[in-house]
Amino acid sequence: MRYAIHWTPARLTRIADVARGVRLFEIAPEGGAISAEPGAHLNVVLIVDGAPQTRSYSIVDADAANYRIAVKLCSDGRGGSAAMFRLEPGARLTVSEPHNNFMLEFDRSDYLLLAGGIGVTPLVSMARALRRAGKAYRFIHVARSRAEAALTGELAAAHATNYQPFYSREGAPLDLRAEIVRLAADGQLYFCGPMRMLEAGRRAWRETGRALSDFRFETFASGGGYPPEAFTVRIPRLGKEVRVSEHETMLAALAKAGVDIMSDCERGECGLCAVDVLACEGTLDHRDVFFSDAERAQGARLCACVSRAVGGAVSIDTAFRAKAERLGP
Ligand code: FES
Repeated sequence: MRYAIHWTPARLTRIADVARGVRLFEIAPEGGAISAEPGAHLNVVLIVDGAPQTRSYSIVDADAANYRIAVKLCSDGRGGSAAMFRLEPGARLTVSEPHNNFMLEFDRSDYLLLAGGIGVTPLVSMARALRRAGKAYRFIHVARSRAEAALTGELAAAHATNYQPFYSREGAPLDLRAEIVRLAADGQLYFCGPMRMLEAGRRAWRETGRALSDFRFETFASGGGYPPEAFTVRIPRLGKEVRVSEHETMLAALAKAGVDIMSDCERGECGLCAVDVLACEGTLDHRDVFFSDAERAQGARLCACVSRAVGGAVSIDTAFRAKAERLGP
């Protein structure tokens, strides 16, 4: 990671169901909570498959004592949400301080916040900050149904007509292009949601002739074209063969096996963890937003933090040496 993480013991103080399959967790770190910028996230250590693993969750809200995060139970995910849902109030946890990879800039005259499903979480704090700053903003929240949309009651109460929920199974579809056209010329869009919605949003943004640099986004890093399954990674140059379970990333499995790969976002956004693909038995399931459609179709490289192989194995090469190899003569 780009930044040092300081870990703190914490206690889970409250759990509440806030939509179908979505829970709000209130976490009190020892010594109190640190103020969180809009869009910031919290790293939480969870036991997944019997081993400690780190997951990042956007901070919905924080006060002097507690961080609040909302988590959607993802049955085909890497096991983090299932581990969160097994927790009971009073559980002991280890958490980081807030970190922010999704900064809100305050220098524009108009903002469009666009959430897909549980992608609402980082945008809750952004909407609150924009309202306090007296900025013009609209907050569009797309969910499949009313029952699955988290935090709608409090968002409607806080943001009145600035908040517009859309339920795709219950009404007219969102005309995203029309919403973008309504945004002032210097406006920015902040998006968090699934990959397919991100691609549609970016396409609509481009079609309206706006600079892509003003389309800010964060993704779930979990939505692939196929359900996750175990696969094998071979690194011929190192003579290594590593098994990646369905609940872990290639990056994590390689690190466990002593193969260092540089990484930063771990969401398929920055490209730092990209490795060369030498061969693939099966199909590559690219889950990044770093490579272009053409590059993903070519399949010469992949982002090890999110992408997977389906139906077999992938052979890769990396510029980095295994720890054992680097320590050798
Ligand atoms: S670490 Fe950023 S794309 Fe993998």
